[in-house]
Amino acid sequence: MNTKVVTIGLGYIGLPTSALIANNQIHVHGVDISQHVVDTINAGKIHIVEPDLDKAVAEAVQEGYLKADTKPVEADTYLVVVPTPFKGDHQPDISYVKAATTGILPLLKEGDLYIIESTSPVGTTEKMMDYIFAERPELQGKIYLAYCPERVLPGNVMYELVHNDRVIGGVNEDSTQKALSFYRRFVKGELHPTNARTAEMCKLTENASRDSQIAFANELSLICDKANINVWDLIRLANKHPRVNILQPGCGVGGHCIAVDPYFLTADFPMESRMIAQARETNNYKSFWCAEKVKSARLEFELKQGREPSIAIMGLAFKPNIDDLRESPAIHIAERVLQDSGDADMYIVEPNVREHKVFKLTNYKDAVEKADIVVFLVAHNEFKTLEFNNSQVILDFCGVTNK
Ligand SMILES: NC(=O)c1ccc[n+]([C@@H]2O[C@H](COP(=O)([O-])OP(=O)(O)OC[C@H]3O[C@@H](n4cnc5c(N)ncnc54)[C@H](O)[C@@H]3O)[C@@H](O)[C@H]2O)c1
Repeated sequence: MNTKVVTIGLGYIGLPTSALIANNQIHVHGVDISQHVVDTINAGKIHIVEPDLDKAVAEAVQEGYLKADTKPVEADTYLVVVPTPFKGDHQPDISYVKAATTGILPLLKEGDLYIIESTSPVGTTEKMMDYIFAERPELQGKIYLAYCPERVLPGNVMYELVHNDRVIGGVNEDSTQKALSFYRRFVKGELHPTNARTAEMCKLTENASRDSQIAFANELSLICDKANINVWDLIRLANKHPRVNILQPGCGVGGHCIAVDPYFLTADFPMESRMIAQARETNNYKSFWCAEKVKSARLEFELKQGREPSIAIMGLAFKPNIDDLRESPAIHIAERVLQDSGDADMYIVEPNVREHKVFKLTNYKDAVEKADIVVFLVAHNEFKTLEFNNSQVILDFCGVTNK
């Protein structure tokens, strides 16, 4: 088979990208270290939840354009889409990117294109270039290297992969042009050329910007709580200003991008990224604060009523109407409240998840019917029409009951 593209990492981003390229009649050899992932894909099935991905993968595999494997093969374009987590001390961990690069080192040849899509600290593409040329000096000036970040929204990945604008930065002009012509084959959004460092920084900037804007809203929510002002009304009114657009506060910030990527900046530029670091702290503090509020409400109830209240924790996902619990602040809050709950009845609710390894889940209507204190952490659609009785204490940290 005439393989053209090797993708390394077949997760939430790598698999949809591989399927899309393959659906454009380009041969893709997808690589993953997980045998389970490889076997699932080769059976024409998928191991992650993403609308329309099943069809795309089934078609790509059936028509012979997509094959998964645990080892790479020779190709002319290599896409690195492996995880880039941070270590315990919030230092970025690019060992997966390096491992993926090590795997293809012996396969690289003149004219090849090497692209990193994984969210990466500034300078990672140049670091990998230096690594490649140190191991294969004869390739110097003969291969193309670029960085192209991904900004798709989980749940709408198959559409956004094609229609979103992309920022593409090579280590030199030839690399940028080569990468542009690659993406032009399957992306309909506009392609924006730049250099590798700017493209790396661009991805980090986008997520740090979201994090900082949410931190501003969360900070307002703390001030408003003390000042006895409804923060949702306040923001709605402030946003009537033609040049003000404040986001909504919540119980913290979660997910594997916005709550993670700003650390790639604070780790490398600690003196210059004070506001970005403070935004991270503010958003983390908001979760702690929410848990403390629940505990106070419980104590107050106990003092007044002479018995322990039952508590409903409404929502575990990191944002509304999804089943993704990664880095979810609601989970941290639920854990903190549970740790301290003694024998009190706790109802944990997440309508988008059937079962959870740690929490016993309760139907959202039953939980609200039975609980003395109802704590809203995530503004899921199901929660918007719930009714309460006068004796119930409602703690709404996500504005879902604000009519
Ligand atoms: N998921 C998103 O919404 C999103 C959006 C934009 C950017 N990103 C970035 O894209 C990158 C990938 O994220 P993801 O969500 O697809 O991750 P993921 O965890 O879903 O998938 C990564 C895959 O890579 C595999 N892997 C790990 N090391 C490997 C290696 N050395 N060789 C081959 N395979 C290996 C893992 O088994 C896994 O299947 C990350 O840098 C992430 O920050 C993700």
